[in-house]
Amino acid sequence: MNVLSALLLLVHLIPVSAARNGVTSKNRKRIMPDPVTEPPVMDPIYEALLYCNIPRVAERSMEGHAPHHFKLVSVHVFIRHGDRYPLYVIPKTKRPEIDCTLVANRKPYHPKLEAFVSHMSKGSGASFESPLHSLPLYPSHQLCEMGELTQTGVVQHLQNGQLLRDIYLKKHKLLPSDWSTKQLHLETTGKSRTLQSGLALLYGFLPDFDWKKVYFRHQPSALFCSGNCYCPLRNQYLEKEQRRQYLLRLKNRQLERTYEEMARIVDTPTKQLRAANPIDAMLCLFCHNVSFPCTRNGCVNMEHFKVIKRHQIEDESERREKKLYLGYALLGAHPILNQTVGRMRRAAEGRKEELFALSSAHDVTLAPILSALGLTEARFPRFAARLIFELWQDREKPGEHSVRILYDGVDVTFHTSFCQDHHKRSPKPMCPLENFVRFVKRDMFVALGSGSTNYYDACHREGS
Ligand SMILES: *[C@@H]1O[C@H](CO)[C@@H](O)[C@H](O)[C@H]1NC(C)=O
Ligand SMILES: *[C@@H]1O[C@H](CO)[C@@H](O)[C@H](O)[C@H]1NC(C)=O
Repeated sequence: MNVLSALLLLVHLIPVSAARNGVTSKNRKRIMPDPVTEPPVMDPIYEALLYCNIPRVAERSMEGHAPHHFKLVSVHVFIRHGDRYPLYVIPKTKRPEIDCTLVANRKPYHPKLEAFVSHMSKGSGASFESPLHSLPLYPSHQLCEMGELTQTGVVQHLQNGQLLRDIYLKKHKLLPSDWSTKQLHLETTGKSRTLQSGLALLYGFLPDFDWKKVYFRHQPSALFCSGNCYCPLRNQYLEKEQRRQYLLRLKNRQLERTYEEMARIVDTPTKQLRAANPIDAMLCLFCHNVSFPCTRNGCVNMEHFKVIKRHQIEDESERREKKLYLGYALLGAHPILNQTVGRMRRAAEGRKEELFALSSAHDVTLAPILSALGLTEARFPRFAARLIFELWQDREKPGEHSVRILYDGVDVTFHTSFCQDHHKRSPKPMCPLENFVRFVKRDMFVALGSGSTNYYDACHREGS
């Protein structure tokens, strides 16, 4: 990145640092491009800003980087939806006044924003898998509905789409000029924010967004486990993980005091306030530079925010150490990774279908995939996070296929458990497809340590 774009990046991030909420200039100075592959630091403001992922001028990206004798075969994209309105309200406070209409004179803005709105409003007859066809195609409420995608969220994904288009379509010619529905595999959960995020990304990505060629499938489960969702051991791991979370929270006296103080301010029992998950609403206010709520008893403030956010970071760090989440993640991510492997193998065999796959999903989709892949240092998925698998063919050895894995534009291929340090032994800067296949078909289960070698067995083992 050059100095100018680094500077623009800084300048652009500073105003976002929630001036109203009293962020000090000391904190502002520390904003740097995000080290996705480095573990989170104990600075709650810094982490929260990365999480907001406010669109900036310069986006660093390593997608599509390969030696010239490699040909791009297929691309598999998993996204988290963009910035959204909270899912919960802080009890007894006014709902944050955030506008979810899409307008040109509000920041952040993308040059394709108006065209996106106009194109989406013509798509009312779009045919999607039920029940997706009943969802609105773009956000439009003057006072956002709960969980609604915001303009920031739309812009984040228009930007993702444009970036991927420049790399995959313009540079690597992933799709033939006469591409059809068959070349795309599109799926989303049944929330308007995921469908709309997927549409915004595609609108930025496709050279001609033809409604007749865009078909979204519906995934009822956030794990995208269609047909293979029943897995009792996965649920056991999840219960143990939730127990761990609960015990860690009990140990944190400062957190408890903070909840008590906030509960007093909003005049609600502490338990009820905690159950309302106030950090979700506070993060939204923080990302949108809106002040935290006040009542006649006082104001919720930045110190409260920092304590809860710091606890979140601690929780994630303990989660990594305790490995209960890893057990959940390996079983939870298997079906979706297995599907991806299936698509990659078919593409490697020369089939010209599903060259571009897009799964529009949630943090609870991406987080287990990241863990399962062994990306222990990866940050929790921010708004509009993207995780991409690229399949490449070596033109000099057409029988050999390789994968690259990118998280928010950073090449994490050699941080995965199945390709760690591979580049130090091989002259090729990529991971052999076989490594990934072996991992998904077998080694994922070996990593569970239960002696199982397939998904069904691993899911039905007695306790562990
Ligand atoms: C954030 O809010 C403060 C106080 O209202 C305002 O001065 C500042 O310009 C706002 N920043 C942005 C980026 O909107
Ligand atoms: C994995 O994918 C194969 C096809 O590629 C399929 O037959 C099998 O049922 C899938 N298994 C699971 C557990 O998803």
